[in-house]
Amino acid sequence: MGVPLSILLVDDNPEDRFLIARELRKEFSEVVFTEVFDPDGFYRALEKGDFDLVITDYKLYWTDGLEVLQAIKQRWPYRPVIMFTGTGNEEVAVEAMKAGLDDYIIKSPKHFVRLSMAVRSTLDRARERQALRNLETRYQDLFNGIPVGLFRVDSDGRIIEANAALAEMLGYEGPSSLFSVNMAGFFADEGDYHRWLSCLRKEEVVRNYEARWRRRDGEVIWVKGNARLQPRGEGFLIEGYFNDISALKQAEEERERIRHQLFQAHKMEVLGRMVGGIAHDFNNLLTIIRGFSELLLHRLGESSPLWRAACQIKEAADRGANLTRQLLAFGRKQVLRLMPVNVNRLISEMEELLRRLLGEDVELVTELAEGIEPVKADPVQIEQVIMNLAVNARDAMPEGGKLTIRTEVVTLREEGPLEDTEARPGRFVCIVVSDTGVGMEQELLGQIFDPFFTTKEEGTGLGLSVAYGIVKQHGGWISVESRPGRGTTFKLYLPVYGREREA
Ligand SMILES: Nc1ncnc2c1ncn2[C@@H]1O[C@H](COP(=O)(O)OP(=O)(O)O)[C@@H](O)[C@H]1O
Ligand SMILES: [Mg+2]
Repeated sequence: MGVPLSILLVDDNPEDRFLIARELRKEFSEVVFTEVFDPDGFYRALEKGDFDLVITDYKLYWTDGLEVLQAIKQRWPYRPVIMFTGTGNEEVAVEAMKAGLDDYIIKSPKHFVRLSMAVRSTLDRARERQALRNLETRYQDLFNGIPVGLFRVDSDGRIIEANAALAEMLGYEGPSSLFSVNMAGFFADEGDYHRWLSCLRKEEVVRNYEARWRRRDGEVIWVKGNARLQPRGEGFLIEGYFNDISALKQAEEERERIRHQLFQAHKMEVLGRMVGGIAHDFNNLLTIIRGFSELLLHRLGESSPLWRAACQIKEAADRGANLTRQLLAFGRKQVLRLMPVNVNRLISEMEELLRRLLGEDVELVTELAEGIEPVKADPVQIEQVIMNLAVNARDAMPEGGKLTIRTEVVTLREEGPLEDTEARPGRFVCIVVSDTGVGMEQELLGQIFDPFFTTKEEGTGLGLSVAYGIVKQHGGWISVESRPGRGTTFKLYLPVYGREREA
């Protein structure tokens, strides 16, 4: 049954070889022998290596058992070797055991009986060792091959074990180049390392710890992992894993950005409808109040003691009408008088007015693109938008500065990579209004178009909401970029005349 046991017998005495073989055949039903009695035969057998175990004499005519042992162990380190000799001595035995000999038996009639037992137990031990080695290799393969950065560090934070994935994550040559590197150095923010460490000290196991690591080439990556701390003597060991989750983080941020933009667009939509609806009803009421207050004024005449009171009613109603007009603009409920408008000409004609508005300390620069196409617009409304932006720019530059108004024609293609959710493909005239003023925090940008949102003591919070509504009603949109201390840029996109259907 099975593969027969194959034994290499190195002995130059034919009688001994015969006796050994006979003895072992008694014990092992299936056994084959390769008998070696000269150097040629030995080297051939060594090269071939088709044996499970070696039994060698000590004294051989061309060499000794120690050299046979060394030759075998060098070529086949895990093959067991038994020395069976009548000519050796204790010193030889000790030296041979040091060199990896598995058993040493004195060649005498009574010891022949022991030979089979020795072979059996040597083979058993060899098999156990092999099984351990297999296990070790399996775990080594797993440890090194698993696509997750595994590590073990000592109490000083020094890496004592690491796998290939960790090295790769950090941009190191291989795991060995990580040894005794301090783990603290991986963390882009060393505070994260110390927080992690103190969590481990308290909880012993820390799960899903997220941090930013700095690779050897300087690139920063996001990692996430579990670890546990184990006491070891005076100190401790930490072992665990970290995974590169940079791609995941990026996708998450992108989703968050889109979610925010959608929320923003939705908010403006709802606000616009609500404010527009209220303003519309309110405007009707104001029309009645204004009509009757005019009638009153007419009937009373200036000499009447009630003339002043009626005047005040009319003035308040006028102010209210002005307010609702702006709210209607935001709610996109205005009646537009659309016509082809050359934006460059419109801006040029406004320059005088804008200069007066901005005052001496603010420089006005216009950069108008040549041969710009007309847009379909209500020029009065577009003027209003530019005025509102200019007023805000002036407020943002109390110490003076520069206001630039630039025009260009842009063609937007894909739906996907567009910066704004409100953007859409098509051909647009873009009016870029940028100032060198105080700028805004990012958090603020989500609110500035809301009606009545203002950061100014005297502000109405209507300028931008009106601008927003007007541009929307023209089938365009506004985008804004700003940073504190770095000024602000508004971009108005208006569809090119006659191209709306193509867009
Ligand atoms: N060019 C700008 N630079 C800095 N902040 C601005 C600018 N334009 C608008 N803002 C901010 O947006 C808010 C809303 O503007 P707006 O709707 O015109 O209302 P108001 O000007 O009455 O405050 C302002 O209070 C200000 O905080
Ligand atoms: Mg304003």
